Amino acid sequence: MAKVLKWAGMVLVPIAILIQVFPRVERTNPPVTGEIEAPPEVMAILRRSCYDCHSNKTRWPWYSRVAPVSWLVSRDVREARFKINFSTWAEIPSMYKVLYRGEILKQVENGAMPLAKYIWLHRDAEITPADLDTLRRWIEGD
Ligand code: HEC
Repeated sequence: MAKVLKWAGMVLVPIAILIQVFPRVERTNPPVTGEIEAPPEVMAILRRSCYDCHSNKTRWPWYSRVAPVSWLVSRDVREARFKINFSTWAEIPSMYKVLYRGEILKQVENGAMPLAKYIWLHRDAEITPADLDTLRRWIEGD
């Protein structure tokens, strides 16, 4: 048993160290070129619950610096920004903004966004019924 542990240590510890340096993980916050404009109560919800993934203002927590978690976090952020980025929102043609907003409401109503694993680590990111009302008023405009 001790032998197994020793071997595991000799193999796993170097691997654990190596994966911290290789591969390089991107953890950048590119410039904000056209931030979304919405009423303050809507912005508060987006900033609190969506911005870590869907903006260029990601707060990178300490565990996002430790592989292999860093790989997962940076992939989520990359994919999320690719789909919808509130820091470059102004660049979306207005015709499409309507569709994007509809998609936002759909994702939040279905409980698909924010991602469950994110809520698990950031309890305050959870969308309350009041938040959903606020988003709905903004998106459906009544
Ligand atoms: C932990 C990261 C994270 C957070 C926080 C997050 N998202 Fe996402 N979101 C993603 C990822 C990753 C994708 C792309 C993969 C997917 O669709 O599941 C995505 C996709 C989306 C899409 C596009 C869905 C599609 O299939 O086209 C919308 C709309 C969206 N998110 C809205 C939101 C809104 C609104 C919030 C805040 C209430 C939010 N997300 C919070 C990670 C996140």
